[in-house]
Amino acid sequence: MQLLHLDSSILGAASVSRQLSSEIVARQQALHPDIHITYRDLAADPALHLSGTHLAAFQGVASDDAYISADLVKGGAYLDELFAADILVIGVPMYNLSVPTPLKAWIDRISVAGKTFHYTATGPEGLLKNKKVFIASARGGVYSAGSPAAALEHQESYLTGLLAFLGIADATVVRAEGVAFGPGAKEAAVAQALEQIASITA
Ligand SMILES: Cc1cc2nc3c(=O)[nH]c(=O)nc-3n(C[C@H](O)[C@H](O)[C@H](O)COP(=O)(O)O)c2cc1C
Repeated sequence: MQLLHLDSSILGAASVSRQLSSEIVARQQALHPDIHITYRDLAADPALHLSGTHLAAFQGVASDDAYISADLVKGGAYLDELFAADILVIGVPMYNLSVPTPLKAWIDRISVAGKTFHYTATGPEGLLKNKKVFIASARGGVYSAGSPAAALEHQESYLTGLLAFLGIADATVVRAEGVAFGPGAKEAAVAQALEQIASITA
């Protein structure tokens, strides 16, 4: 069994989503002792933004820019790691109502027509099968369904929607929200999320 673990917070050791994603991975290791883990810190080592040179390379026009060439290799590795994974664990903070840009850069490399999705006569179809994802979500405010700010939630909904578009519809969200809501709020939100992680059974 293969697990792909991604983190995207820029807050290093102070990051809530990193703490939660690492606890989910530890839980998966406890449940599946033979699991093989691939880790990427997308904040520490992000892919470049897509450019015209990238698109030309995807069409077969070789780049003579070593910087872009190395980045294209990285994008290829992202895809290989995703195809190999049975389980994804993604640490995702909310930044400016959405996901961090390094995670978006990863998404831009793994969302490839003909590889991870395709269009059929009846619409798009995800090509990633038999995978599940655990999303370790952290946010300063509260955006859960029913809250006043729910309509501004473009982080979890975007990530789960995108992954479902690619065929990964089996998503479990572990969330610590309202972490900026004054003393004790972060600790309470993290404690609740850790409780949820401890109850994961598969
Ligand atoms: C650049 C930046 C943008 C942020 N934008 C939002 C936001 O739009 N909404 C929100 O509720 N919290 C926002 N926050 C707070 C984070 O979501 C919160 O600190 C969360 O714990 C971040 O996850 P992390 O601890 O894993 O880095 C932002 C924080 C940073 C650093």
